[in-house]
Amino acid sequence: MNAKKLPTYEELSKPLTIFSYKWFKWGLVRIVLNTIGRLSKGIRIGFKYGFDSGTMLDYVYENNPQGWLFFGKLIDREYLNGPGWAGIRQRKIHLKQILNEAIQGNRRNSKDTIIMDVASGPGRYLIETMQEYRKSGIKVICRDMDETGLNLGRQLCSRLGIEGIKYEKADAFSLETLKNTEPVPNIIIVSGLYELFTNDDIVKKSMDNISAVLKPGDYFIFTNQPYHPQLELIARTLPNRLHEFWVMRLRSDNEVKSWATALGFKHVRSLLDGYGIFSVHLFQKI
Ligand SMILES: C[S@@+](CC[C@H](N)C(=O)[O-])C[C@H]1O[C@@H](n2cnc3c(N)ncnc32)[C@H](O)[C@@H]1O
Repeated sequence: MNAKKLPTYEELSKPLTIFSYKWFKWGLVRIVLNTIGRLSKGIRIGFKYGFDSGTMLDYVYENNPQGWLFFGKLIDREYLNGPGWAGIRQRKIHLKQILNEAIQGNRRNSKDTIIMDVASGPGRYLIETMQEYRKSGIKVICRDMDETGLNLGRQLCSRLGIEGIKYEKADAFSLETLKNTEPVPNIIIVSGLYELFTNDDIVKKSMDNISAVLKPGDYFIFTNQPYHPQLELIARTLPNRLHEFWVMRLRSDNEVKSWATALGFKHVRSLLDGYGIFSVHLFQKI
């Protein structure tokens, strides 16, 4: 699957030579996406909020093609069927599976479960988990920097009558904010965040902060992206939440797992989708 050499982050960050073949090729794809592509609701959401935003991911999770007339819906179907988005839906299933394992671990130890997701977006996977654990006393804190995603989550909770989830605007990387969380979480989730940051030190520092607030036996769940078949298409045509080109930095699972281990966590389980794109990791504080 990974046999073909993938372009590196550094290569994809470099602007294309003007009038080169790739300059024309990706320029044309951008024009198509920005015109005909906008008939699809998903592509419109991507251009408005960023293709890496929580709002975009929530639309992908919903997986209900919408668009302008039949043609727009058709484009949306193709868009939602792309390997990256199919992998994201598989990641959500894995995330819920691994979260369930952590909840059951707490139950075995007679511990109440307090979950915090530091960059949840609307947190649909948490809402669905709470649907399965109604009246269980589990509490969830969903945090994000983006109010649009938080509001979508609040609306979804009230539509579905879900209690026990609160939404707060906060920076995932602030140790101060992590320390001041009420109630104190014993499961911390970082899903789809580390992949957005190209600097390894930011990721390691965040893991270190999380290690500092969790107690022995508590759980740390995070995702990683070791591979993507459409790196170049994405980097050359799709804007991220900051309206810059979305250039991804892939990291091997062994590398990120070794960072967590070095920071005082024990590896429990990892799951990878069938495309090899997204992995979910469960660690426990020693
Ligand atoms: C790819 S989305 C993932 C959303 C959700 N966790 C999921 O897996 O579906 C990344 C999220 O990180 C949020 N984000 C980016 N930087 C952040 C920061 N410094 N603090 C908190 N959230 C942040 C974005 O607003 C976005 O909702």
